[in-house]
Amino acid sequence: MRVFIGVAWPYANGPIHLGHIAGAYLPADIFARYQRLRGNEVLMVSGSDEHGTPITITAEKEGKTPREIADRYHRINAEVMEKLGISFDLYFRTSHPHHKDVVKRFFLRLMENGYLYKDTMISPYCPNCNRFLPDRYVEGTCPYCGYENARGDQCDSCGKTLDPKDLINSRCAICGAQPEFRETEHIFFALSKLEKDILRWLADKTYWRDNVINFTRNFVKSGLKDRAITRDIEWGVEVPLANFEHKRIYVWFEAVIGYLSASVEWSRRTGNSWRAFWLDKNARHYYFLGKDNIPFHTIIWPAMLMAHGELNLPYNVVANEYLRFSGEKFSKSRGIGVWMPELLANFDPDIIRFYTALNMPEHRDSDFTWDDFVQKVNEELVDKFGNFIHRALIFAYRNFGEIPPRGEIDDTDKEALELIEKTKKDMENYLEKVELKKAFKVWLNLARYGNVYFDKKAPWALCKNDRNKCATAINISLQIVKALAVLGYPYLPFSSRKIWRYLGYEKSIEEYGWDDAIEPVPEGQKLNKPEVLYKKITREEERYEKWEQIELRIGVIEEVVEHPDADKLYIMKVNLGTETRQIIAGMRPYYRKDELLGKKVVVVANLEPAKIRGYESQGMLLAADDGETVALLTPGDNVKAGTYVMANGIESSHRAVLKFKKFKKLKIISGIITDTGNKITVKADKEYIIDHSAPEEWKNKQCVVFLDKKPLILHVGDALIYPERVVTPGGIVR
Ligand code: MF3
Ligand code: ZN
Repeated sequence: MRVFIGVAWPYANGPIHLGHIAGAYLPADIFARYQRLRGNEVLMVSGSDEHGTPITITAEKEGKTPREIADRYHRINAEVMEKLGISFDLYFRTSHPHHKDVVKRFFLRLMENGYLYKDTMISPYCPNCNRFLPDRYVEGTCPYCGYENARGDQCDSCGKTLDPKDLINSRCAICGAQPEFRETEHIFFALSKLEKDILRWLADKTYWRDNVINFTRNFVKSGLKDRAITRDIEWGVEVPLANFEHKRIYVWFEAVIGYLSASVEWSRRTGNSWRAFWLDKNARHYYFLGKDNIPFHTIIWPAMLMAHGELNLPYNVVANEYLRFSGEKFSKSRGIGVWMPELLANFDPDIIRFYTALNMPEHRDSDFTWDDFVQKVNEELVDKFGNFIHRALIFAYRNFGEIPPRGEIDDTDKEALELIEKTKKDMENYLEKVELKKAFKVWLNLARYGNVYFDKKAPWALCKNDRNKCATAINISLQIVKALAVLGYPYLPFSSRKIWRYLGYEKSIEEYGWDDAIEPVPEGQKLNKPEVLYKKITREEERYEKWEQIELRIGVIEEVVEHPDADKLYIMKVNLGTETRQIIAGMRPYYRKDELLGKKVVVVANLEPAKIRGYESQGMLLAADDGETVALLTPGDNVKAGTYVMANGIESSHRAVLKFKKFKKLKIISGIITDTGNKITVKADKEYIIDHSAPEEWKNKQCVVFLDKKPLILHVGDALIYPERVVTPGGIVR
């Protein structure tokens, strides 16, 4: 059989986190590896979703081009997939010209088939920013569930897809202004025409997960409406029609076609046939995704495929719930969660895969905590599985050097062999139904049993007086080891490969296949010296209590006047993007007015407001002072006003009000970066090694260190925060 596996494409606007892995990539990979072991032909694809407002908004925030953002995170995320062993046949990207070609052809075919038409619509337009507000540029209250931060195209709370004009009290996501509504021309997809076909197609999908089929049926019940599939935006796939030069195809419409374009590209690169997967009706299509992606995969993409004609529809859409972090939603802006590049820098991929597989949010939300991670890995993976494998292998290697013969077997041996067979069957039942967590628990039970068997047999005692019985016990132990390696391969491929080599096999596990798990281990096969599979892990809680107190934002100085009764003070107006603050600062001895105007500065934005010589100061500007020179901190010109400053990648947003007394206790100092790479070396009052990676351009630059449990570097994305005049390293920032 042929199995196509499509995994939702992550937006290339940030590094992926453990929630993405637990909700889509790991389950898909487990399923793909299982299918391959069964001897099925598998094509698994995904890639970076590089267009649309998620990318452009990030780019605007960081003062970068969308292309720079997409390139950066495509590289980072492709590397994560590779390191974690997510075995894509192709991890493609939507900015690739071949993807764009396939999209345009798809688009034109839908047009020919009568499913696309031109019409005008009313769209929100920000009079302040002078532009239309597609998708994430507009926010407001969801008309279905009342959630207040719904976006123009989808509500994050109830999952419904939206039209921006449906939002109640909409506002511009960039400046907060109330949008006007203007007429604009777009291309529409005639989803309503396909309502009956979708319903008919859904009728036999009783084997889908409850959450997926229920959500979908509900969605269709409220009626399928035609949807605009072009946008007033510059970044995306061009519309292949005259007079649409300034519009782009809606990111979702185009990204789902990536499943097809990646397949075609894979064909081109390998010489294999994509048609065998997409046209042959016997091929089964599985999709793996998080629950917010359900309607796009169970309604819109199938409808697009129907409108196109000929291509295979999804067989199953496997959507997962969310992985939470200590009970909270993962949030990049609030620094809540676990990011994959960091996690992979600290732990072996199978350690991450093990814990994630045990904790996947298959039917309900699950929770990640560091304590649970450390505990489960140490108790289950290291103490049970790793321990049994090593005991059995090292004993066999030292006492026999090869797989010893199986003599007469007793009831305990029989019990072991039966459990192996039962484990395999039970796992198959679950895996076919994509109940991956249940299958894994069955497997783990066999690993636990391995220790029980080994202790019961006590081969170290047997060996002294009955070498035949000892040989049998070791033979059966290795049989359990072998079964664990084969049956565990979809979950822990790196470990399985090692075990396979220790068992002395020359050909790979993949070549033997799933059913070989219960074939007798080959007697006389020479063993290789085993190494310990895993060491216990530890993890100190990564919390920066001081950094969590302060909110630093980039502001631009818009107005400066002298304080009427204090000759050191200026009264300034500083724009923070969403608001303008009045700030009183003692800068007159150091800065002329014209030097200040237009400057990008760092504002302590959550400082308790204070009256200074009769005027309210709503914040403070940070400056470095070495006793001689006073220099304002700045991120350079390219960072937008309002952006939150980060320390080692942790954004300082959502902080409580900070009292001046507490602020005075924080230590911030200036320095010079003397080395970059995976860690940063800074010369300040002494040398600091900062546990954060940095681009080479940062070398020899002035910088600012925030002293917490560990020293942290201040930056905004790739832009370093620095004193804008030369100050001696070790200067105090206040
Ligand atoms: N980028 C989307 C998200 O992260 C998922 C896109 S799936 C695709 O929610 F198939 F459309 F690419
Ligand atoms: Zn606006």
